[in-house]
Amino acid sequence: MRLITLAAIAAAASLTATAATELTLQTNKPGANVAPTMYGIFFEDINYGADGGLYAEKIKNRSFEFPQNLMGWYTFGGVELRDDGPFERNPHYVRLSTAGHREKHTGLENEGFFGVSVEKGEKYDFSVWARTPEGGDATLRIQIIDPSMRENKQALCEQKIKVSGKEWKKYTVQLTPDRTIMKGKLRIFLAKPDQTPVDLEHVSLFPVDTWKGRPGGLRKDLAQKLYDLHPGVFRFPGGCIVEGTDTATRYQWKNTVGPVENRPLNENRWHYTFDYRFFPDYFQTYGLGFYEYFQLSEDIGAEPLPILNVGLICQYQNDEDQQIPMSEIDKYVQDALDLIEFANGDTSTTWGAVRAEMGHPEPFNLKYIGIGNEQWDPIYPEHLEPFLKPIRTKYPDIKIVGSSGPNSEGKEFDYLWPEMTRLKADLVDEHFYRPEEWFLSQGRRYDNYDRKGPKVFAGEYACHGKGKKWNHFNAALMEAAFMTGLERNADIVEMATYAPLFAHVDGWQWQPDMIWYDNLNSYPTASYYVQQLYATNPGTRVLPLLGADKQPLTGADGQNGLFASAVLDEPTGEYIVKIANTGDDAQEITINFAGMKKKEGINSATVTTLHSDDLDAENSLDNPARVIPQQEQIALENAQNWTTELPARTFKVYRFKK
Ligand code: AHR
Repeated sequence: MRLITLAAIAAAASLTATAATELTLQTNKPGANVAPTMYGIFFEDINYGADGGLYAEKIKNRSFEFPQNLMGWYTFGGVELRDDGPFERNPHYVRLSTAGHREKHTGLENEGFFGVSVEKGEKYDFSVWARTPEGGDATLRIQIIDPSMRENKQALCEQKIKVSGKEWKKYTVQLTPDRTIMKGKLRIFLAKPDQTPVDLEHVSLFPVDTWKGRPGGLRKDLAQKLYDLHPGVFRFPGGCIVEGTDTATRYQWKNTVGPVENRPLNENRWHYTFDYRFFPDYFQTYGLGFYEYFQLSEDIGAEPLPILNVGLICQYQNDEDQQIPMSEIDKYVQDALDLIEFANGDTSTTWGAVRAEMGHPEPFNLKYIGIGNEQWDPIYPEHLEPFLKPIRTKYPDIKIVGSSGPNSEGKEFDYLWPEMTRLKADLVDEHFYRPEEWFLSQGRRYDNYDRKGPKVFAGEYACHGKGKKWNHFNAALMEAAFMTGLERNADIVEMATYAPLFAHVDGWQWQPDMIWYDNLNSYPTASYYVQQLYATNPGTRVLPLLGADKQPLTGADGQNGLFASAVLDEPTGEYIVKIANTGDDAQEITINFAGMKKKEGINSATVTTLHSDDLDAENSLDNPARVIPQQEQIALENAQNWTTELPARTFKVYRFKK
């Protein structure tokens, strides 16, 4: 965020001759609490969000378990695929034997995720499980190479590993490239053509400099961007991948914990969901699994919100007669109970012990669990109901999140909300990927929701601009405007998560997304900044903020496209006002600070502005800061009202200090 410091006197703020829009901020009437979970993040392994994204592994198909076992690998010389390896759930490995002539080489190269990218002078941990099946010693040469051969020598760095004996062991070595490369390869080959054979399994390459310096950890720049968002809740692992295309490919959290070498591979449905963006090499290794998700929640200070399969596979892809029968529902319920034990159980419990073994004896303090993603029709409540009693009986404090289906309104939505109320879901997950007009029309969406029913979790949303406009400024402005309605209704809206979170520029299937990257760089979108402005200015209590007509500003007729909300931040005593001007004209506004004592007044305002003259402006790898918040400080003289100008098409957050 850029900081511009301006000193201005309140009186000097009168800018135009037209009548100002009068707003009254009732400072002495704090209302509903704003839940600390209010502004959060939604993570799904879509767009190479996990493997090839947040999970910093650089080797694709590291365990040779893709259905085409050598996908991502180029082999040369005497390479044989075998399937009796040391890891039960990932049994494949390769055997390197002599190429048959002293001049010839045996080995393999990995292409990485859109290339193996490394930076000059950085350190990378290479590891491999290996043995010499016939005994004795053999030497491997490990290189990161530039396949384009722009430089004279291909290798950016090289190390040797001596493999000894018939037992499988993990070998590690550190590589430090002398050049930066975006689309390199990892090459491994026998140092001498005539040496004894070597078996290789689970070939891995990670930067040493990961998030929090954890070996085998997360990409630092991406995790840092999540941290900088200050999210209150972290929803994982999706999305549609929770459901699976079929029973075998549904997301099973138990496959994602324990040693990474033995986490079985799963298909990623996003490799084939859209045939215009088809990625046959997109799988889930689960290196980023449930333990890592909980750990990341803790790192970024967000409440974890796992979403589990409700015993239904994707309803878009399967007819009702292909669904999982109710007779099998118990094992799905047991998975949910076991997950809560994994997160919260003490170390004497079966799953609490697994967590402790992985390095976290303390509980993760799970408070929420979602059951089902985008489900609809009576089959959903039927499958959901058997989860409720066992969870509530064993874990009465856990809040259960149900679903209202894939649409923001309509038949499924209208059917499911009353069903969720009947089943006493604690929260209901709503999804809306909608165009500009929809966002502009929803300023009062939550004003009339039943206050006695479940709370709202706006679990997936983003403005999908008409005319194939994706992460442009105007979409972010629409989201900012809409979010004033979430904030004003904080008594019923408990959490909201923009979606999806991540996208690789070479590997996306879905856009818009909040954070984009290639293998080395990343940038936040304008929508990211909207989320950040809300999440870093959440306040603790809603304050009434009304126009001259005693109505909130919700973009209604006669309100000139203005949307506004306000909160009190109890720890600092500051009043935070958020206003989006979605109209084409600059507008003067006067904020009257009602309810203050006679001698009290506002002395300063920190004003953060998100604006672009070009509604289509987008950030990019080349221009990551084209749309970025600007901050200024304004001095006021014990003011009880303040007039300022709101430029056209602008979102502003004001923090007022008494
Ligand atoms: O966010 C992308 C997808 O949109 C999610 O997987 C799904 O829940 C929704 O349809």
